[in-house]
Amino acid sequence: MADQEGLIRAAPGRAEGVITRGTTGINRLRRIDRHSLREPVVVAALGDDPRPLAIDLGYGDRPVTTLEWAGRLRAAAPRIGVVGLEIDPERVVADRDGVIFRRGGFELAGLRPTLLRAINVLRQYPEEAVEPAWARLLGGLRPGGVLIEGTCDEIGRLCSWVTLTGDGPRTLTLAWDPAAIERPSDLAARLPKALIHHNVPGRPIHETLRAADHAWEAAAGLTPFGPRVRWRAALASLAAAGLPVEVSRRRLRDNVLRVPWAHVAP
Ligand SMILES: C[S@@+](CC[C@H](N)C(=O)[O-])C[C@H]1O[C@@H](n2cnc3c(N)ncnc32)[C@H](O)[C@@H]1O
Repeated sequence: MADQEGLIRAAPGRAEGVITRGTTGINRLRRIDRHSLREPVVVAALGDDPRPLAIDLGYGDRPVTTLEWAGRLRAAAPRIGVVGLEIDPERVVADRDGVIFRRGGFELAGLRPTLLRAINVLRQYPEEAVEPAWARLLGGLRPGGVLIEGTCDEIGRLCSWVTLTGDGPRTLTLAWDPAAIERPSDLAARLPKALIHHNVPGRPIHETLRAADHAWEAAAGLTPFGPRVRWRAALASLAAAGLPVEVSRRRLRDNVLRVPWAHVAP
């Protein structure tokens, strides 16, 4: 981490963005980490970089989710450097457990990460801020780098994120505690900022959630086998109907809906 430290000390200028509420919580981002770290673009980015750097942007009023992420990242990439950046100087804590904490905003304190996570950060910005923020963040990635930008509820049962690379957004993922919802569209309140205001009839994200609800209803006969089995059947029927959903061969702990960004882009 020595050269990364040097870069941070040298980083001049102001932190770009605005201070927002700092709410966070222990293990809040576990679902996002569990599924995002298995995404092929993330696996490739970490695998191709001999000294990967991960930045958690906007870690909030406690550094807990950054420290948890560091543990998960090291399991995947033992040589990874991890930095937590926070725009509020009052929330910048001392380095700990091998993780560096500094003040920084969309300019990323001059660092160039392989993997960048910004969760529950843009949620409190106006929608018009999303595109410029994405562009700024993507411009700060290393070649082949990945940005995970999304949101979740207070305890991380309902999660959604956009996975972006230098070319722009690639996929939307919704992941939820199978016992936490009545129907897939219950995630509507936790969509990423880029989509949340577009969840109205006729728009792609609304139609996608409606199709998911219909498939879920059609699989109601499987309710006695539990919500995971029911969702697998719903997902299979969505795929059979031609929706470009990702169907995992593994049995998942969470229910997950992943589609190409082009399918839901506003
Ligand atoms: C709701 S907290 C999210 C904490 C954590 N990521 C989570 O999901 O639990 C949002 C944090 O992002 C910070 N923030 C907002 N804009 C930022 C920016 N441009 N750069 C860095 N941090 C930012 C806020 O100051 C706040 O502490």
